[in-house]
Amino acid sequence: MTGDLLIRGVRPYGEGEPVDVLVRDGVVAEIGTRLSATAEVLDASGLVLLPGFVDLHTHLREPGGEESETIESGSAAAALGGYTAVFAMPNTDPVGDSAVVVEHVWRRGAEIGLVDVHPVGAVTVGLGGERMAELASMASSRARVRMFSDDGRCVHDPMLMRRALEYATSLDAVIAQHAEDPRLTEGAQAHEGVVAARLGLAGWPATAEETVVARDCALARDAGARLHVCHVSSAHTVAVLRAAKAAGVRVTAEVTPHHLLLTDATLTAYDPVHKVNPPLRTADDAREMRNALAEGVIDVVATDHAPHAAQYKDTEWAAARPGMLGLQTALSVLVRACVEPGRLDWRGVARVMSQRPAEIGRLRDQGRPIAVGEPATFTVVDPDDMWTVRGAGLASRGTNTPYEGMRLPATVVATVLRGRVTAREGKVAA
Ligand code: DOR
Ligand code: ZN
Repeated sequence: MTGDLLIRGVRPYGEGEPVDVLVRDGVVAEIGTRLSATAEVLDASGLVLLPGFVDLHTHLREPGGEESETIESGSAAAALGGYTAVFAMPNTDPVGDSAVVVEHVWRRGAEIGLVDVHPVGAVTVGLGGERMAELASMASSRARVRMFSDDGRCVHDPMLMRRALEYATSLDAVIAQHAEDPRLTEGAQAHEGVVAARLGLAGWPATAEETVVARDCALARDAGARLHVCHVSSAHTVAVLRAAKAAGVRVTAEVTPHHLLLTDATLTAYDPVHKVNPPLRTADDAREMRNALAEGVIDVVATDHAPHAAQYKDTEWAAARPGMLGLQTALSVLVRACVEPGRLDWRGVARVMSQRPAEIGRLRDQGRPIAVGEPATFTVVDPDDMWTVRGAGLASRGTNTPYEGMRLPATVVATVLRGRVTAREGKVAA
């Protein structure tokens, strides 16, 4: 039998007996045992097959921030991390607030071809928070934008947020809110709590997130609109989301790997690699993130991959930019935080890393079931492998990983995008 690729001896979703998966023309042609074919063979015995990961929240920094990341280096990091699609945030220079800029990002992603790059459009012109950007022209551009966000900043004006939600609804788009009341976080450096008090760092109160999410849920309810809450960090916010979902509000939410695993206890070393927005919070908050993800109140894991060149990070705490690398460590951190303790199984990983993000981002050929006739877009995972994180060894231009030197479980053995191997054993396809 002919084919493009034969994945041999793999367990879809880590369930049942091993099978062979034959891929032809980018699609799953056959699933069975002892398949033979004149195809490239990927020996996957002992490995787990998952649908390719989809990241709703990535900073690729291009245009304008190429010293920290490029679409090329970020695409490599994504493929190596098991991602087959990423949503690129528009806080670039120039800002992704027009069809020209989002089409540039989209085209560059397609040229590189390692991962589907979907630009997120800005909600407001220049992320200024004052005038709505031309959402419809971005939606009808070749980039077909279906997610809008001013990430890095909150769409704070309630009237503007209301109009954006209403307008996005007619485009079947979602507004992804960076929920942070700027009046409550002026000068903030760390989670407002005992650790920040002891270190003398100005506090970022969890209520600055919770209150914006509560307001936005009410606005989304009235508009019948889709709202997505970026990087939930506080247990109080989870309570708001739970109530809103129970009341039928069309709200979805993401949590980052770092808010699942890390806490503000790491700040005592004053290393700005731990500075991030929203800030790392308490162990109770992190526990509630893991509960909410397992329960489905938080829908997805999104990386908030935020590379920063050394000149922006290797400074004193107050001057350092917030953000952490995420694409190549997300799976391992999720396994450590949720799979090892038994809160998620591999099907759960597929749900929060692939299926739900694809649904929220309106991607039709990602996050699909592993079945004959479906796109061959996969991540092949070794669940028993361990590795040691080294920022300098990651594909990103920035090296700002908070997991430096940590030994973490699970590695990505291969990533497959529509039948094409984009990464294999730590190397991207040429
Ligand atoms: O930590 C963060 N970094 N949070 C954001 O909201 C923005 C991001 C960035 O662009 O660096
Ligand atoms: Zn953000």
